[in-house]
Amino acid sequence: MRAPSAVLFDAYGTLFDVYSVGALAERFFPGQGTALALLWRDKQIEYTRLVTTSDHGAHYQPFWDLTRAGLRYACARLQLDLNAEREAALMDQYRHLSAFAQARPVLQALRERGVVTGILSNGDRGMLDAAIASAGLDALLDHVISVDPIRKYKTHPDAYRLGVDATGCAAGDIAFVSSNSWDALAATWYGFRTLWINRQGLPFEMLGTAPERIGSELNAVLDFFTAA
Ligand code: LAC
Repeated sequence: MRAPSAVLFDAYGTLFDVYSVGALAERFFPGQGTALALLWRDKQIEYTRLVTTSDHGAHYQPFWDLTRAGLRYACARLQLDLNAEREAALMDQYRHLSAFAQARPVLQALRERGVVTGILSNGDRGMLDAAIASAGLDALLDHVISVDPIRKYKTHPDAYRLGVDATGCAAGDIAFVSSNSWDALAATWYGFRTLWINRQGLPFEMLGTAPERIGSELNAVLDFFTAA
């Protein structure tokens, strides 16, 4: 199989480490940080699906706003006192994430091979730019693609199509990398070549389709090239 011409990465949890958000949550709500971080993430993603599939997108809100809504829901559900100060601190932490240690060397290695690099994310441009800047990845990304202009979230095929449009590469020439199993699955269905980063030893989605590759860290993306 030919090596991909472009590699597009999911952002949150894939390139950007959201661990620090859970750690701050634990500081504010001892014993509940992990539960909060999990429920917050689940709600954030559930809301993306809700607004994409309902009423022809009439209820679309940018990812930043859905992230805040998810945080509020999760705290209410867990009966945690989310005052304005804590909300601001947790949201600020989400805005200024660090990248996983391998993000920089892996992006560098891809560029040295002449591979086009980018992010394809549900995040709106403001939050992506802030995360990219605080992680210091600006110079290593050819494309920063947000679904926000089309007001449809992954896993809508129009969202994945943005990667084809931006790079000018056919879907089958693009490798898509995500730590979210649902994202890796839908990207496979869309026609991308896919790598699921499974850092936590989780099962993959049980819907009868597997990603092309599974790795435990970002450097597994380089196997698309050595094995080609
Ligand atoms: C993103 C979320 C889904 O960056 O992680 O698109």
